Amino acid sequence: MPETFDLVIKGATVVNQDGEGQRDIGIRAGRIAGIGNLGSAKAAETLDARGLHVLPGVIDSQVHFREPGLEHKENLESGSRAAVMGGVTAVFEMPNTKPLTTDNGALADKVRRARDRMFCDFAFYVGATRENIDDIPALEKLESSAGMKIFMGASTGDLLVEDEPSLDRIIAKISRRAAFHSEDEARLRSRLGVRRPGDASSHPEWRDVEAAMIATTRLVRLAEKHRKRVHVLHISTADEIAFLRDHKAWASLEVTPHHLTLVAPECYQRLGTFAQMNPPVRDAAHLAGIWAGIADGTVDVVGSDHAPHTAEEKHHPYPDSHSGMTGVQTLVPVMLDHVNAGRLSLARFVDLTSAGPQRLFGIRNKGRIAVGYDADLTVVDLKRTETITAGWIQSVAQWTPYDGMKVKGWPVGTFVRGRRVMWAGAIEGKAHGAPVGFYEGQ
Ligand code: DOR
Repeated sequence: MPETFDLVIKGATVVNQDGEGQRDIGIRAGRIAGIGNLGSAKAAETLDARGLHVLPGVIDSQVHFREPGLEHKENLESGSRAAVMGGVTAVFEMPNTKPLTTDNGALADKVRRARDRMFCDFAFYVGATRENIDDIPALEKLESSAGMKIFMGASTGDLLVEDEPSLDRIIAKISRRAAFHSEDEARLRSRLGVRRPGDASSHPEWRDVEAAMIATTRLVRLAEKHRKRVHVLHISTADEIAFLRDHKAWASLEVTPHHLTLVAPECYQRLGTFAQMNPPVRDAAHLAGIWAGIADGTVDVVGSDHAPHTAEEKHHPYPDSHSGMTGVQTLVPVMLDHVNAGRLSLARFVDLTSAGPQRLFGIRNKGRIAVGYDADLTVVDLKRTETITAGWIQSVAQWTPYDGMKVKGWPVGTFVRGRRVMWAGAIEGKAHGAPVGFYEGQ
């Protein structure tokens, strides 16, 4: 009896834990049900994908989709359109919305809004505050909770826990891996005068290397003391990479495409406040240091830190301009361009964007192209040259720091649990987003 599938993707080069090779993928009931030569299988639908690469679905472990409360910048639906248009199949969304996602009710509200309205799958970080420390064990376990997020330095919104006694209590309480915005608030406050009005190139001078290092060394000290897992988000300095390389037992590292692509002072001359984000984009020595962490395996995951603000908010004169840039839609093409330029292998890209998040966060049934796993797939054309334009961007914010950038390597298809949600640049069907499951959550 020939095997029967809902869909067979034929002839693509599949990149997974078996390496890279030409194999068919059979999908049944939203799961991967067969891999190999499926030439004799029956399929309700067949997709000829010769010449394309099929990767495990890209998981973006850091996005700000702004709903509820800041929908003039983004909403869960538009953010997820941007995600799948860019080949991203699941996102972890951040808690600095209005109201803040700091309790059960706010998280349940986000899940309600997201289910069947987002095109990709989703999880939500819960923000830690001084007030909800005792609730952390329960908050970590809620449906769709990606775990706790802690802002050690202030950025967009009101979430902030900057004092060491409170950080110590939080880290003592967590049992899952918790994610940290690691900049030292006291140093940031003491250096406000370093900012030069109208000059965004002073942003990395204000939020300097020392501010990042003070926070990251403190964080690692507390993690080692309590033997708890901490995840350092959007690392911007060569110094932190060098330090964390020797402290991997309890700390994991996330970097963004923009810290791997943009470089000061050129980015501030060209983009002004549109290159402004926290922690800042820095000079070529830091860029090289972060790439070294990609090359030697120190860096665990790449997340976009998609943080949209309207063009009007970005146009305010520095320092009143808002920090953050769009990124969920450009993560895959920008990183594939780096693959084509020889800066990382395709296998390393897969490790950073699917296997890596699966391993760190204990994601159930995602992150691999293996039988039994969710059929989340990112289909890419590695040979295609395209120009990224603001017009392509699905975000409410409608701009990208990469406008006009020519890249080689392009997302051409996105499958979420076996459903084709994007093909050849068009979003297909209705939204069916569902919560990501975790071994230590739900
Ligand atoms: O630049 C940033 N923008 N960094 C953050 O950590 C927050 C983000 C935002 O929410 O706008």
